[in-house]
Amino acid sequence: MPTTIAAPKKAPATEADFLPLQGTDYIEFYVGNAKQAAHFYKTAFGFQSLAYAGPETGTKDRVSYAIRQNKLTFLLTTPLRPDHPIADHIAKHGDGVKVIALKVEDATSAWNETTKRGGKSFMKPTTLTDDGGELVMSGIHTYGETVHLFIERENYNGPFMPGFRKWESAYNPTDAGLLYCDHCVGNVGWNQMNPWVKFYEDVMGFRNILTFDDKDISTEYSALMSKVMSNGNGFVKFPINEPAEGKKKSQVEEYLEFYNGEGVQHVAIATKDIVKTVTELQKRGIEFLNIPTSYYDTLPDRVGHIDEDLEPLKRLGILVDRDNEGYLLQIFTKPVEDRPTLFFEIIQRKGAKSFGKGNFKALFEALEKEQDARGNL
Ligand code: FE2
Repeated sequence: MPTTIAAPKKAPATEADFLPLQGTDYIEFYVGNAKQAAHFYKTAFGFQSLAYAGPETGTKDRVSYAIRQNKLTFLLTTPLRPDHPIADHIAKHGDGVKVIALKVEDATSAWNETTKRGGKSFMKPTTLTDDGGELVMSGIHTYGETVHLFIERENYNGPFMPGFRKWESAYNPTDAGLLYCDHCVGNVGWNQMNPWVKFYEDVMGFRNILTFDDKDISTEYSALMSKVMSNGNGFVKFPINEPAEGKKKSQVEEYLEFYNGEGVQHVAIATKDIVKTVTELQKRGIEFLNIPTSYYDTLPDRVGHIDEDLEPLKRLGILVDRDNEGYLLQIFTKPVEDRPTLFFEIIQRKGAKSFGKGNFKALFEALEKEQDARGNL
């Protein structure tokens, strides 16, 4: 029997940081077929099997597969019957992110502090136990049907969470160098960016660290606006996008139409060697947005010296941007499901703490080409 580890003495929540977050605990996706989705993320992205819950473990209405790569944990969940609320969620939104779970020292305090500031409760503090010990979770709603869960796992030693058993598999594709969640971007409706910025400020104590208006993020055809919200220690960053008026339909509008509401647009995952990671992901069939090679003609002038050779960046389509603290390399996948909704970003930061503003134009032109091919521009 695993022993219970004594919890460190909890510091009382202060007004300065009433919601101390230790980072992203996991991201849960509601999907049409969790077994196949788990296989896809293992095969294509290099995740490892971690834990399983389903009828065999006492969860009768759904199955969930937890997979992990370094500090990045995904949970893939499918309902077993058509009259399940998760089935409605999937019919409405397609496969997508339901939960951004945040690691906390005290899930009860996290719930108290956020709900008393106006957060709408999704789950009251709930203690789950099994042989691995005790885990406390609670949660609040955010944009669309997305939720934030607060996970307190200092007294838990099991593979993932009570109710899950270790998932041992003979199929263990190699790691692709994905390390942790760098940021998670939400798409919200017209005029909804500022109300959600206020929600993250008031309810969760986040700060607006960057703002992009429709002049920063526009092409000949479409535009969007974005504000980046960060918690106190910077471990959790949530940019919020809303569409802006342009000549044609913006990518955020296309998302809202096909996701049938607000939701997570992309999850950015950190790597410490983007050339190696992206080479690996492409080899395994992940498709990325195509960037015109002309982008690389002006790159050295724009970003100055970088450690990487230009040739592999150009071959793989990796973008580079610089801010006054350093530079970053980034690339975006095409949507990972049939609806033009959720996609992933792979990012390597070399000092830069920003989000690639200098790449927005090239990136959005590439996105619009795809959108146009779908007949949605
Ligand atoms: Fe991003």
